[in-house]
Amino acid sequence: MTDNTRKPLRSESWFNDLGDPEMTALYLERYLNYGLTLEELRSGKPIIGIAQTGSDLSPCNRHHVELAKRTRDGIRTQGGIPLEIPVHPIQETGKRPTAMLDRNLAYLSLVESLFGYPIDGVVLTIGCDKTTPALLMAAATVNIPAIAFSVGPMLNGWHKGERAGSGAVIWKAREKYAAGEIDGEGFLNMAAASAPSVGYCNTMGTASTMNSLAEVLGMQLPGSASIPAPYRERGQMAYYTGCRIVDMVHEDLRPSQIMTREAFENAIVVNSAIGGSTNAPIHLVAIAKHLGIEISNADWETHGYKIPLLANVQPAGEYLSEDFHLAGGLPAVVAELLRGGLVPHPDAVTVTGEGFGQLYTDAPCENDDVIRPLDRALTPEAGFLNMTGNLFDTAIMKTSVITQEFRDRYLSNADDPMAFEGPAFVFDGPEDFHKRIDDPALNITADSILVMRGAGPKGYPGGAEVVNMRPPSYLIKQGIRGLPCMGDGRQSGTSGSASILNASPEAADGGNLAILRDGDRLRVDLNTRQVQLQLSEAEIAERRAALEAEGGYKVPESQSPWQAIFRDRVRQFSDGMVLEGADQFRDIGNK
Ligand code: FES
Ligand code: MG
Repeated sequence: MTDNTRKPLRSESWFNDLGDPEMTALYLERYLNYGLTLEELRSGKPIIGIAQTGSDLSPCNRHHVELAKRTRDGIRTQGGIPLEIPVHPIQETGKRPTAMLDRNLAYLSLVESLFGYPIDGVVLTIGCDKTTPALLMAAATVNIPAIAFSVGPMLNGWHKGERAGSGAVIWKAREKYAAGEIDGEGFLNMAAASAPSVGYCNTMGTASTMNSLAEVLGMQLPGSASIPAPYRERGQMAYYTGCRIVDMVHEDLRPSQIMTREAFENAIVVNSAIGGSTNAPIHLVAIAKHLGIEISNADWETHGYKIPLLANVQPAGEYLSEDFHLAGGLPAVVAELLRGGLVPHPDAVTVTGEGFGQLYTDAPCENDDVIRPLDRALTPEAGFLNMTGNLFDTAIMKTSVITQEFRDRYLSNADDPMAFEGPAFVFDGPEDFHKRIDDPALNITADSILVMRGAGPKGYPGGAEVVNMRPPSYLIKQGIRGLPCMGDGRQSGTSGSASILNASPEAADGGNLAILRDGDRLRVDLNTRQVQLQLSEAEIAERRAALEAEGGYKVPESQSPWQAIFRDRVRQFSDGMVLEGADQFRDIGNK
């Protein structure tokens, strides 16, 4: 029976004779063929999509296949009808050349699914790095009621009595391998130890970061992000999420009412406090763009830089996601920030319909070594710096991972404690790096700066996570574990390297990294946020002209149709790597 006082649901224009019985019959018949009934489909009950990112190809999110059963239970309990929607798979560690290339593809395909089918509201099953932004971007564009649901991190990994964290253990193993301390099998064993259960990376890499920020943006139920994947609370949260989305459809509570500029500013603040990934600016800028909200790297510095690091989680700290959850998880971090008056917009609306701040005020902290109080923060200013100069317009530097060793070596000059200078060594993509890094003829020294180019959105389609480069083996053997790095690519959120990243524009899009040569002097000043190539403007212009005369910076050929289309349409990291023109389409599910 249809209630005439309410606004018709989207799905009713497919299933309930709103004008065209012929089309209605066509739309309806095929949904009946596996057992759904006419009564259900014409009952006026909301049809709820479950955007399914789990599959055998996506192990991080695979547990969603199981969890979706509880989500369906919740949807049914609350009077909705669930329909599972497959999402283009994105597996961070398995996809060549990079999973980042597929973020926009998954976004496009989910937009079409949500727009083109009878869906009234959607559960976004998030997890592995790019699945979260892809799904939030799609929800932003279509703007039908949406709720995110995290698959949850893996349990703590252990190797020889020490915590083995996703990604972080790889950086450690790489150094041990280069120093000859382990062999190939030892490398494999260390890596495998970090993946003990279903779920996504158990460090504060891009996955944990983006799942946390999806909650801070107001798009997940409070307390959801940090529950480990195998815990029973994860299945219970799946159920509550299913229940809640049905009510959100009745309330017509949409992403544009939740993901406001205020919510993004809250997210930037929390990102600093959890030691979040340098991929977060790219993704948040992208989600915001699809809502018509302009956020820049400068906003990240303005709102986030002075926020202290509270989460003692790898790579910036010691512990892993399971410890983080048991210590109180994201709610405990937010509660402490609230106590310090550091959450800029506690009233921002969430999927619960309530204000963000009030949901977390009383969240307890169960272990104040894992989640620090403000007066014992791990780093007083843990946000990103927005770097600029004559090589690029903007790049991000994550300060929460600057080690004491780095400070002592590069930031201890008495006259100028925030600046350092050195010769640059420049690599054209990861293959070039691996080929040349150990060549003694290069003469890379302890004061050198390693530069990676050809690794941005167009150069290495999607952008490679390769800016954090290890020093040559001969320097590692002398105890030099890291050199300053910069480049137009990204770095894994699990890396503890204080690199200057995501430089925009990239070498392949007219950026001056293209004219850099081995041995050029660079000056990095963290105080003025400047990176300067020590050449005159005239010399820079001359090199530029010479490069243009040779046809510009060369990039490898595209290997697939999507790579070619992507390169043609993609914008720079500073613009969220969104597709040109895609952000013109807003609110399309309501038109
Ligand atoms: Fe999927 Fe890290 S590789 S979450
Ligand atoms: Mg990654």
